[in-house]
Amino acid sequence: MVLTAPLPADGVGALAAYDVEVGPPTADADALVCLLTDRIGPDVLRGRRLKVVATVAVGVDNVDVAAATAAGIVVTNTPGLLDETTADLAFLLILAASRRASQAEAALRRGTWDGWRLDGFLGNDVHGARLALLGFGRTGRAVARRAAGFDMVVRHCTRHDTGEPGWTDDLDGLLRWADVVSVHTPLTAETHHLLDARRLALLRPTAVVVNTARGPVVDADALAAALEDGRLGGAGLDVYADEPRVDPRLLAAPNLVLLPHIGSATAATRLAMVRHACENVDAVLRGERPASPVNPEVLA
Ligand code: DGY
Repeated sequence: MVLTAPLPADGVGALAAYDVEVGPPTADADALVCLLTDRIGPDVLRGRRLKVVATVAVGVDNVDVAAATAAGIVVTNTPGLLDETTADLAFLLILAASRRASQAEAALRRGTWDGWRLDGFLGNDVHGARLALLGFGRTGRAVARRAAGFDMVVRHCTRHDTGEPGWTDDLDGLLRWADVVSVHTPLTAETHHLLDARRLALLRPTAVVVNTARGPVVDADALAAALEDGRLGGAGLDVYADEPRVDPRLLAAPNLVLLPHIGSATAATRLAMVRHACENVDAVLRGERPASPVNPEVLA
């Protein structure tokens, strides 16, 4: 079995009985525990011995799941463990971008803050604001629960009716309505550049956009242009199209809070994710059903 990165000793207990190596993704293993930074494509998935690829993440856009399924390889992920932690970070970005926290702190650190001013760093109230959630899975719902504590008015957009208050499938209408937009969709062919130049142009000039899902769901160039031209109030990003590279236009854009993909980065959550991935691998190798298969059809 290959782990593509060293994992914390207290997370790998389920693998105690196996011969484990740390190394790059390889076709020459019976199991792979990988990270979202590993590309797991057909070159790896052609491995004849390979039975399971367990990613220590909920997003699986780095794994060619279709190729794995065709090869009879189980892919597993870690759903249900990082939603609250990621929702905390989404809220941090909502607050920071709405209240210009990064911009204000940067001025203070540069020594350009010249004292309290009536019109200094004026942002938007978060309490009572209209929050649009794009996607309403576990993390989106966790953000909605936090928003209730801020008396926000929350609506969500998904393709299929969730049957819950605030649902709409009219994305354009939702964007025109929102003060804050928070992205919680997986990255798929359909969600790639879901927020493109046309849709960003529907937003109010004071609106704030937050993305803690996957970078390519928002068109970075269009976002930077909207911020540069003052057509958007602010934004907060934790994810990028080509990590760890960050588009220089984003680095220079005004009122853009940037974090380095730390949505799930608490010690407790990362440990829970590692444990879960290792338990998934152990289950598959023992011929049992793992807790979170992404392609359960392989098990059938
Ligand atoms: C995931 O698990 O997909 C997250 O992006 C990790 O923070």
